[in-house]
Amino acid sequence: MADTWPKHDMQFLAGRRLRRARRTVWSRAMVRETVLTPSDLIWPLFVIEGHNERTQIRTMPGVERLSVDLCVDAAKAARDAGIPALALFPNTPDHLRNENATEAYNPDNLMCRALSAIKSAVPEVGLIADVALDEYSSDGQDGLVRDGEILNDETVAVMVRSALVQARAGADIIAPSDMMDGRVAAIRAALDGDGFDATQIMSYAAKYASYYYGPFREAVGSGSRLVGDKRTYQMDYGNSDEALREVEQDIAEGADSVMVKPGLPYLDIVRRVKDNFNVPVYAYQVSGEFAMIEMAAAAGAIDRKGAILESLIAFKRAGANGVLTYFALEVARELGR
Ligand code: PBG
Repeated sequence: MADTWPKHDMQFLAGRRLRRARRTVWSRAMVRETVLTPSDLIWPLFVIEGHNERTQIRTMPGVERLSVDLCVDAAKAARDAGIPALALFPNTPDHLRNENATEAYNPDNLMCRALSAIKSAVPEVGLIADVALDEYSSDGQDGLVRDGEILNDETVAVMVRSALVQARAGADIIAPSDMMDGRVAAIRAALDGDGFDATQIMSYAAKYASYYYGPFREAVGSGSRLVGDKRTYQMDYGNSDEALREVEQDIAEGADSVMVKPGLPYLDIVRRVKDNFNVPVYAYQVSGEFAMIEMAAAAGAIDRKGAILESLIAFKRAGANGVLTYFALEVARELGR
């Protein structure tokens, strides 16, 4: 009995042996549903003052802040690897930060100098300029603070000025990452009014108040000064329907594309946004996610390269049109091999 029943009982599997397709490398390649290409990747760069200057970020092993000239070299490397766009984040020197974040709209600020240097040397690469006040303010908040309160409309007014100097300096895409209400409409109107109707807006539409941003705050120098709580404007991580309302609103205000942030812990949000709206959706594999992979790999817990590729394919599988990732250059080069 024992040697006949399995064969008999397994008959029903004849047409359902899913392992058949997984047996060989060629077959697995043929049936793979999701692929990753260099054009899916956006590479974030941290910019610092100086010349031929690079500084380490303790909590982001392998990522460096680069002076403008080195950012130009990095942009050439990105172009050669097939990366379509860079996202720039300035580390503004302390003495230029103040509570009104006035450096945000200085046409000669670090961000603008980086944008124009890269745009003239490497015009083929798209430049995404982050608009938020934490990179310029003395208190590390994305908005202006008065009596402990993060002001909305006053912040939007400063962001509009910031977006305009960035567009004039060569930004192709303005990316507000602050979560103030109404900033997409205000920036769109200001861009159009200044002749920048071709400049896109990539809105950080569903940005959560996340514990995964720690290393980034070290990178741009906003973490140690952070006073107060970002939860009064960034989203509560328990919410999902609210993300759809944010996305709906930003699209109505004129966003060309939207971002979900952080990445891997929020793939359900990426999928819902993709299923509900027909605009390009990007996901940000943030600094804490990067650090988790690097540090687990360094400790010998996971295979680094495998874990990186798996994490990036997961974004695409969830519906993302592209991923902002600190691994972009390395992975683009790897994919192009
Ligand atoms: C703030 C901003 C943050 C990140 C990008 N833009 C941090 C924050 O909201 O405190 C985080 C990105 C990362 O962690 O990689 N404007």
